[in-house]
Amino acid sequence: MTVYFIGAGPGAADLITLRGRDLIAACPVCLYAGSLVPEALLAHCPSGARIINTAPLSLDEIIAELRKAHQAGQDVARLHSGDLSIWSAMGEQLRRLRAEAIPYEICPGVPSFAAAAAALETELTLPGVAQSLVLTRTSGRASPMPENETLETFARSGATLAIHLSVHVLDEVVARLTPFYGADCPVAVVWRASWPDQQILRSHLGEVIAASDGLRGRTALILVGRSLAQEGFAESCLYAGDYDRRYRPVGTAPRFPEGQE
Ligand SMILES: C[S@@+](CC[C@H](N)C(=O)[O-])C[C@H]1O[C@@H](n2cnc3c(N)ncnc32)[C@H](O)[C@@H]1O
Repeated sequence: MTVYFIGAGPGAADLITLRGRDLIAACPVCLYAGSLVPEALLAHCPSGARIINTAPLSLDEIIAELRKAHQAGQDVARLHSGDLSIWSAMGEQLRRLRAEAIPYEICPGVPSFAAAAAALETELTLPGVAQSLVLTRTSGRASPMPENETLETFARSGATLAIHLSVHVLDEVVARLTPFYGADCPVAVVWRASWPDQQILRSHLGEVIAASDGLRGRTALILVGRSLAQEGFAESCLYAGDYDRRYRPVGTAPRFPEGQE
């Protein structure tokens, strides 16, 4: 018996890995985080599967369900939105499972920042503009931010920011970032990326508050940074005709001659 933690993707039911889909189909028990996981994914469960929405459950109650499946020798598909490596509450479940010697495996998923970038048709790391992406959030009731992980700290670097769980404090985010990025810095807010009711707002730090008037919903990502302009950047060396590389040796004395490591 194994508990399979499966990244369910950002919303569109076909943005799950083949492995994730096949695991759902093979497990007689499915626990899913109902607030964000698309119900359409449950269609992959085998007929007669025990399907439990964990949105109203406590951690103790979730672990009790996993323990029950373990005692019955039944594999479990445990679905969380996006990828499991960020804001999934997987860490605390894994710790409990380790303590009870209940086996688990993890199947990654498509994170919401990737779905938002795709919706924006944007590369978030552009040569000479931004080569780092910070996945962050602001303080919430359930999770205060560690002292040194402030928006200001990350903003000082000029990196592209993907700010989660924060659209309800968009005005605070804008006020804190404007001194670092400038009022003309591009911002995009993507609500429910990849869901049928996805909404996109492209703006600038100086205008985004007014522009977002009337757009509501908490499932949104705020992306901030010069890379969102998709202009004013150099081409990468990688595909430059005169760039000598292992897979495309160039010149009379290439650094990586063909056939040699
Ligand atoms: C609890 S976190 C889950 C993050 C998830 N594990 C991931 O990989 O993206 C929920 C936050 O992720 C972001 N989010 C999740 N799904 C989203 C989507 N489809 N579109 C935009 N933002 C999304 C929002 O900021 C939301 O408040």
